[in-house]
Amino acid sequence: MNKRIAILISGRGSNMVALADAIASRAVPNAQVAIVVSDKPNAGGLQLASDRGLETAVVERRGLTREEHEREIISLLRSHEVDWVCLAGYMRVLSPCFIDEFGGQVLNIHPSLLPAFPGLDAQRQALAHGVKISGCTVHFADNTLDGGPIILQRAVPVMDDDTEETLSARILELEHKLYAEALQLVVEGNYEIAGRRVIRCRSND
Ligand code: GRF
Repeated sequence: MNKRIAILISGRGSNMVALADAIASRAVPNAQVAIVVSDKPNAGGLQLASDRGLETAVVERRGLTREEHEREIISLLRSHEVDWVCLAGYMRVLSPCFIDEFGGQVLNIHPSLLPAFPGLDAQRQALAHGVKISGCTVHFADNTLDGGPIILQRAVPVMDDDTEETLSARILELEHKLYAEALQLVVEGNYEIAGRRVIRCRSND
């Protein structure tokens, strides 16, 4: 049976689109997008999701505490029988309750080679630090900012004439491929977690 995927966004949603398209084309087999949820009513990704025929919902923060807000999202995802949650530019750290609710099956993508440059403006941080290589990371989410065991990473060079925009664009292109690959890996259950290490299992053939 297909694994049911929820994608949480707060903004433009290009990683959501990459995941949805990879699932639709069966590049990620045995999966389907159950719902796309945004905490921002004006997130550009909502329209992109609707254009693809995906169900969308907005759960605004309003004056809710983090726990109350998460409870609303959890009950929405439960009613859609969600197995895996993909954070795709979702701008709020989740509590342990949320992560536990989905048995730890919550992924995040970040535009740096973690643990370098967690948090906002990772590409700007990379340029300011003067690193020569950056990249992107897909990891299991935990209740820390961009923490959690790393599933896949990929690197890009940082050029001398890079701006935040050019570096971000180079990384983003890679993000779109890496997120689908990581989702495929976990949906197939083809991994073990040993401490902080996510280890790919060898196939039996
Ligand atoms: C991406 O760079 C992602 O790595 C980070 O937020 C950005 C979201 O972009 N977590 P998009 O909304 O997927 O286009």
